[in-house]
Amino acid sequence: MMKKRFLRIPIRTGIFLLAISLILSACREEETIPPVPVANSEQAGQVATAEKSQPQAARSESAAKGEQKDVEQTVARLEPTEGNEARGEVMFTRTNEGIRVTAQIQGLPPGRHGIHVHEKGDCSAPDASSAGGHYNPDGTPHGAPGNPPDQRHAGDLGNLESGENGTAKYERVDTIIQLSGENSIVGKAVVIHAGEDDFQSQPSGDAGPRMACGVIEAAKK
Ligand code: CU
Ligand code: ZN
Repeated sequence: MMKKRFLRIPIRTGIFLLAISLILSACREEETIPPVPVANSEQAGQVATAEKSQPQAARSESAAKGEQKDVEQTVARLEPTEGNEARGEVMFTRTNEGIRVTAQIQGLPPGRHGIHVHEKGDCSAPDASSAGGHYNPDGTPHGAPGNPPDQRHAGDLGNLESGENGTAKYERVDTIIQLSGENSIVGKAVVIHAGEDDFQSQPSGDAGPRMACGVIEAAKK
C-alpha cells in the first residue's frame, strides 16, 4: 500500500512528498498526516516548530508592549549610600532549577545584612529610600526566601554575612524570582541593609538603613 511505496523511494523525494502532504494537510485538516516512516525525528521537530509559529507571534507582540523576553541573566552594580562604603555586584542567572542569585559585596560591617529586591529601580536618594519597598507583585507578607510563595515577597532574598574583612558572598537558587515577563525584576533595585532581616517584622524584616543600592539590568551578551 501507500506506506510501503514511501519506504522504497529515495529520501529526497520522500522529503518533497512530505512537504507536499503537509501543505495538503494544512488545507484539509481532516486528513491525517501520512507516512511517518519517511520523516526522521529532525523533520518531525521542524514540523512541530512550524506549528508553534502562532504563540511565538503572540510573544513578540507582548515584547513590543515593553515586556522583557527570555532574559537569561541580569546584573545589579551596587553603590554605597551616603556615609557608607558597601559596594559590589549581584547577578541573577537562569538555570534549570530556578534563578541562581550570586552576590559579592565588600565594605560591609561584619555580620548579617538583609538583601532584597526593591520595587523601584531608583537609587538616587542619599539613603536609597527612592528604591521604595520590597518588590511584592503578589501582595504577600514579608518572609524568608525559603518560605512558600504566599509567605514571602518575591524580592525577599534573606541575609548575606560578611566576615572581619568586610566582604560577603551569597549564593542561592530562587524559584520565585522572574527575569522575564510580567513579574520581571529587570528595572528594579537590589538593596543591602545595615542590619539583619528577621524574616518576621512587617513589612520589611526590620533590617535597618540601606547601605548599598543598584539597579537591575539585563546583562549584555
Ligand atoms: Cu531591603
Ligand atoms: Zn520583604
